[in-house]
Amino acid sequence: MNKTVVNSWNEWDPLRHVIVGRADNCHIPPEEPALDAKVPEDSDMRGQWGKRPQETIDRANELLDTFAAQLQARGIRVDRPVPIDHSQPVTTPDFHTGSQFGCMPPRDVLLTVGPEILEATMSYRCRWFEYLNYRPLLQRYWEEDPNFRHEAAPKPRLTDADYHPDYLSEKIGVEKRLKWAEEKHFVTTEEEPLFDAADVLRFGRDLVVQHGFTTNLKGIEWLRRHFPDHRVHAVNFPGDPYPIHIDATFTPLRPGLILNNPQRRLPKDQRGMFEKNGWEIVDAAQPAHNAPPPLCYSSVWLSMNVLVLDPKTVCVEKSEVYQAEQMDKLGMEVVEVELRDAYAFGGGLHCCTADVYREGGCEDYFP
Ligand code: NVA
Repeated sequence: MNKTVVNSWNEWDPLRHVIVGRADNCHIPPEEPALDAKVPEDSDMRGQWGKRPQETIDRANELLDTFAAQLQARGIRVDRPVPIDHSQPVTTPDFHTGSQFGCMPPRDVLLTVGPEILEATMSYRCRWFEYLNYRPLLQRYWEEDPNFRHEAAPKPRLTDADYHPDYLSEKIGVEKRLKWAEEKHFVTTEEEPLFDAADVLRFGRDLVVQHGFTTNLKGIEWLRRHFPDHRVHAVNFPGDPYPIHIDATFTPLRPGLILNNPQRRLPKDQRGMFEKNGWEIVDAAQPAHNAPPPLCYSSVWLSMNVLVLDPKTVCVEKSEVYQAEQMDKLGMEVVEVELRDAYAFGGGLHCCTADVYREGGCEDYFP
C-alpha cells in the first residue's frame, strides 16, 4: 500500500484524521513529585487516589463517543486507543508508583510533526507506560503508510533527582509559586530531557514549546536536535502558578491569529517572531465557570482548549458561551461539543485528541 496516513504540520489546517481518547479504567494516581506540584493547594484531589468512580468513567466515555461521532459525521476518520490496565503499578529499576493514569488525554503523549508521531518522554511516573495505549494504532499506521516515522523519545529515569524538593511541601502558596514561575524555577530539574507533547504547538517550520513543570530546558534542546529542520522556541507564561501543557494558555486559530490566556500573557520579549510577521495575539474570552468540575486537575481555562477543524471552523465546549461568542466575532464557525463532564480525565477538546492527518505541508509562517 502506498498511501499517506500521517501528516500534520500545524494546529489549524483541515483535519482529516484524529485520535480521540477513552476514559476506561482511568485512575487518580498516588502522590508523586511532579503530579503533586500541579494539584492546586485547595483542590478536592489532594490526598485521594484510586480508580475513578465508574459512573464518571461511563459519562466521560459517552461524551467522548459522541464527540468522535460528531467528527466522523463531518468526514473525519477517528481512531480510538486500546486501553491497557491502568490499575497496574509502574516499577522500573529507579522508581515504583502504585497505579497509572489512563488513556486520556492523547495530546499529552503523542506529538505529530509532518509524517512523524513522536512519543514524548513524559514527566510523571504514573504516565511512564501511557504510550502503550497507542501502540496498536501506531503499528497500524506503520503498516499502512510507508513514510510514517514512528519515534519514541528516550525514556527518562524519573529518579528523585528529576524533581526539586522545595516543590514537595504541602503548603507553598500561590504568591511563592508565581515568583518561582517568574524565575523559571519549576518542579522538574535539568537532570535529563523531559517533555510532555502537550507543551508543544506546531506552526509549520516553527515549534513553540512551553518551559514549565512538565517540560524542562533539556527536553526543549532534545526536540531541537531531533527536528533539525525546525526552529524550536522556548516560551514562558509567568502568570501561571501551575505551568503544565500550553493548550489552555496559547491557542493558535489560523495563520496570523492566536488566543492568549489573559492571566498568562506571553511576555513582551518573547513576542518578537509574532509581531515581526504581523500575527495578532488576542486575549481569550473569560471562562463560563468559576471552578473546574470535581476531581479535575485542570483550570477553568479549558474554555480555550478548543479543537480547530480548519481555519474557519472550531470545536468549542458547549457550556463555554463566552468563548463561543468570541470565536463567532473572530469569524469562525463554532461547532458545539459537550465535554465538561470529561474534563476531569485530563482536559478539553484539544487535549482529548491527537492529530494524525491535516491537509497541507510545512509552511514557513515566520520568514
Ligand atoms: N495548564 C493547564 C492544563 C491545560 C490543558 C491548566 O490550565 O490547567
